[in-house]
Amino acid sequence: MKDYLTLDDIALDNKRVLIRVDFNSPMDPNGNILDDVRIRSHVDTLNFLEDCRVVLMSHQSRAGKKDFTTLEAHAKFATKILRREMGYVDDIFGSHAREAIQSLKPGESLLLENTRFYSEENIARSPAEHAKSHMVRKLAPLFDLFVNDAFAVSHRSHCSVVGFTEVLPSAAGILMDKEITALDKALKGNEHPTVFALGGTKADDSIKVVQNILKRGGADKVLLSGVVATIFMMAAGVNVGEANRKFVANQDYLEQVPVAQRLLEEYRDKIVVPVDVAVNKGGERVEVKMNEIPSDLSISDIGLETIADYSKILRNSKVSVLNGPTGIFEQEKFKLGTVELLKAATSSCYSIAGGGHTVTAIEQLGLKPKFSHVSMGGGASITYLSGESLPGIEALKQAAERQRNR
Ligand code: 3PG
Ligand code: MG
Repeated sequence: MKDYLTLDDIALDNKRVLIRVDFNSPMDPNGNILDDVRIRSHVDTLNFLEDCRVVLMSHQSRAGKKDFTTLEAHAKFATKILRREMGYVDDIFGSHAREAIQSLKPGESLLLENTRFYSEENIARSPAEHAKSHMVRKLAPLFDLFVNDAFAVSHRSHCSVVGFTEVLPSAAGILMDKEITALDKALKGNEHPTVFALGGTKADDSIKVVQNILKRGGADKVLLSGVVATIFMMAAGVNVGEANRKFVANQDYLEQVPVAQRLLEEYRDKIVVPVDVAVNKGGERVEVKMNEIPSDLSISDIGLETIADYSKILRNSKVSVLNGPTGIFEQEKFKLGTVELLKAATSSCYSIAGGGHTVTAIEQLGLKPKFSHVSMGGGASITYLSGESLPGIEALKQAAERQRNR
């Protein structure tokens, strides 16, 4: 028996269902969705619920980012993908939203506005605290069931992720269940060598994960690229140049440098930092060795020697976990590291890759069938694989325990 409920455990007839999905997608500055994989990932769950009244909650990006925007375009994509109307209301729990919810008929679905437009959403609080929020108090009475299908955001103890499990019967959606089952295989396998390759831009998340996995003995090697690699290079005393130092400072990551330093001291044999990088010189890819990084040029990928080293380690691994591009994957000249590492990771006995941009890259390269599991979660999957429990999943477990004891 699983320690959370799934949709198979629940009688769904005529239910009013509130579901947390993760529709957070890459968008261009004009508000166009560039990749709909995150929306498609919920199709099984939404089809399973097609006779219910279904209301969806999602976030899109974060306040302050260019792609922090409404979910109108997401509803249109969902309509196309599901081949039935996905309604949309530009409100989360105000009277507009509540009226739209109450007028739903069985078989109809409605997407609410970006949950992160509401400031209480983004505070990391316990389920009990979030249950007292305006969002939960206004919305919960309109529903019979809460479903969390948003594995990718379940590492955040945010209101829409954990608040409703306190007050509504709650279950994991099909995607959530699939993610947990696939990642548990890697987590419990205890196969060696297990190799993590961490890149991307959310370096604070990555550093926490490095800390956890190495403390737990969950990885034999951690290969670093992207912004987290720049921080570790700085920690190792490499002169990354003024432009890259500024970039790290602007992201508020300077305080991560001493953390990286301590990790390097403790786990020098396990943490692998690039030996060369590619910088952007007027749009061209220029390979440079460590300590030769020009002060005005941005690191935009790992270098050729690093790509070869990392690929070899990944090819020889039993379990590989890849999260985040190695550089600016969107630019043709700087996608090489990401492409090569993804290809190498598929040679591993059990290969997992995750994260919004990583999944987009995998789809573009047609590599999906070659991976054991492609996770919609980036931060969520690596946090889970580092042995930490995810607040969204814990909340589902607690709800299941309460329901079973009833
Ligand atoms: C993601 O893109 O990893 C998820 O949607 C979570 O987003 P967040 O890192 O902004 O919380
Ligand atoms: Mg993302």
